[in-house]
Amino acid sequence: MKWRQRTYCGELTRAHIGRDVLLMGWVDAIRDHGNLLFIHLRDVKGMVQVVFSPEKNRDCYETASYLREECIIEVFGQVEIREKGTENPKLETGDIEVFATNLEILAKSKPLPFQVSEKSMVFGEEIKNRPENIDEDLRLRHRYLDLRRPSMQEMFVKRDQITRCIREYLQSLSFIEVETPFLTKSTPEGARDYLVPSRVHHGKFYALPQSPQLFKQLLMMSGMDRYFQIARCFRDEDLRPNRQPEFTQMDMEASFIDEEFIYETVEELTVRIFAIGGIRLNRPFPRMTYQEAMNRYGSDRPDIRFDMSFEDVTTTLKDTNYTVFQQIIKQAGRIKGFRVRDQVKALSKNILQNEYAMKIAPSFGAKGMSWMKVIDGRLQSNIVQFFSPEEQKALMDGFRAKEGDTLIMIADPSLELVHTVLNKLRFHIAERLGLIPKNQYCPLWVTDFPLFELKEDGLSSQHHPFTMPDRIDFNPHDMEDLLNLRSRAYDLVMNGEELGGGSIRIHTMEIQNRIFQALSLTPDEIEAKFGFFLRALEYGAPPHGGLALGMDRVISMILKTSSIRDVIAFPKNRSALCPLTRAPSDTDISQLDELGISIKMGDEAINKNLENALDKEKSSSGMTRSEKISKRGVAHVAKLARLTLLDDDMDQYQKDLNTILYYVDKLDEVDTKNVSPMSHAMETENIWREDIKKSSKNPDTLLENAPEREDRYYKVPKILER
Ligand code: AMO
Repeated sequence: MKWRQRTYCGELTRAHIGRDVLLMGWVDAIRDHGNLLFIHLRDVKGMVQVVFSPEKNRDCYETASYLREECIIEVFGQVEIREKGTENPKLETGDIEVFATNLEILAKSKPLPFQVSEKSMVFGEEIKNRPENIDEDLRLRHRYLDLRRPSMQEMFVKRDQITRCIREYLQSLSFIEVETPFLTKSTPEGARDYLVPSRVHHGKFYALPQSPQLFKQLLMMSGMDRYFQIARCFRDEDLRPNRQPEFTQMDMEASFIDEEFIYETVEELTVRIFAIGGIRLNRPFPRMTYQEAMNRYGSDRPDIRFDMSFEDVTTTLKDTNYTVFQQIIKQAGRIKGFRVRDQVKALSKNILQNEYAMKIAPSFGAKGMSWMKVIDGRLQSNIVQFFSPEEQKALMDGFRAKEGDTLIMIADPSLELVHTVLNKLRFHIAERLGLIPKNQYCPLWVTDFPLFELKEDGLSSQHHPFTMPDRIDFNPHDMEDLLNLRSRAYDLVMNGEELGGGSIRIHTMEIQNRIFQALSLTPDEIEAKFGFFLRALEYGAPPHGGLALGMDRVISMILKTSSIRDVIAFPKNRSALCPLTRAPSDTDISQLDELGISIKMGDEAINKNLENALDKEKSSSGMTRSEKISKRGVAHVAKLARLTLLDDDMDQYQKDLNTILYYVDKLDEVDTKNVSPMSHAMETENIWREDIKKSSKNPDTLLENAPEREDRYYKVPKILER
């Protein structure tokens, strides 16, 4: 019953001075002074210094000499005030320490793959090797160690506070929390489904929900009135830094409401949860239509922390003699741009022309970029002479340009391309010049999205097919009419990130059917995909609507982490793999048989369980240790290298790899006693530096096969990752 007497390290204060306490926790750091041993003892609530002195208790002091970082211990001792000058103001308990009189080691730890400790024992000393600088896969592989770090634990304590706050607030508005199934049917949110095979019904699959969308609407039809759920969702889609294959939504739905109810409820909820991170948001949140967002920022999730919004100067320049613009206007193209205020010095001619116009804008897809600067009250640039004084004045007026401003313009026959490139340039320039205020949070409702978008294979819903259009008199067979429809959907955007989205839903069978017709779904397809849902609609649905917030994104923003992975206890890495459990992994062939599944991978052998195959081969052929690469292994390597191998290639690669491994085994036998260490296996030669030995190799010959060159360099694609 010792736990009853336990005091948390982080809860010790000066009030405990003179008292005996029992502490339990992890050894965070150790400092041995020869005659005294100090440790930082850490538990979930904080840390305290514990002192082991042979004078207080020799046994205890001796046991302490076996302590290593991350051992788990139980210590009994007396709280004392620290000697003057030895306090650690970086520690909450930095003015006291505990003199140990009893120590029990509850669990030992292996040497750590990375440092867990985040606080130095001596005030002012730097902590080196911060895990933030360590390979993320290594952190994820040992996530239980990574999560021991106080800064990580704080994230999850805060995450818990945020979800509690949501629950309390929504429950106060009579929302009830209802769980919906994981093993279900496909829910259309635009991603691929994760499928789960059924053992009982061979050949049939459940789909993991991309969102609880259909179920929450069914709950409204069931008369639940107001529902919410902190729901796990699963989407098999291309990974981005703010996406995870499984993620959490705060999903809500309410009956007999309209958009204003959602705005009011979600704004108040957002204000409350951001306050947990010390972020104050003002209400009401501004609103912007999709059309305005696209016209002014070229994005449906504009970052409005900074301006640099776009102006259209096509009409201003309609009679221009500048042939580049003339050609584009002739093709019904557009000329748009933005103004950068007061940065005329930072944006030098060299940067604008040689970097932005020649390289950066083309890398974003533009054919070119025009720029002008306002210096001495006049426009200056390499093309300004092609514009009449009236046009120059009209341009300055159009951009509201003042002394010291720079204008950036993109002209192209495709308005979409103009928007895409300007949006990227806006961010690139703002980031480069530090124009994005770091500690500002600007929420925005984006509304009135197009209901449909035209894709290669026809019309598709921009949100999902259950979203109510802005008018219900549409003709499902009139493409123009359909493309003009707006949806009663809304997205909550903050600092350029989509935090949530939702809509008012269709609640009559008649409109829902016309939407399905517009999407060219056949009656059979409708029945197969949504039959169950439509049958429910036939029994009547109240007008309803809702929204889902992406919790991982919201929490990451509130806690100012650089990635959503930092606020997910066990996230997948950038390749959708879990380095901790190594999921997804091979499965036993017998399990696949039971499910009636065979894997099609081009080679029978690949389907075999690696261990079984190896065991069999070993016993029949007396294989050596080096012959451990099976076809399955080769296929795995090929997959990682994104190669498709033919059967013959596979055999050859298997042989080659096994030969290499054979030689690797032989390395043990090589006598290296008198060989001095080398930094390279082969002799190296610097062929670029002229001051070093002349090379016989000509750089031009060496770069002959480079797909793209610049001077004497081999150009590789730039990799951007957050
Ligand atoms: P939507 O698809 O817009 O709407 O999703 C809502 C929010 O969920 C978050 N989100 C993600 N977060 C992390 N990883 C992902 N892969 C991921 N995908 C989406 C985003 C997004 O804004 N059923 C509708 C909601 C409704 O209509 O009520 C839906 O799921 O922050």
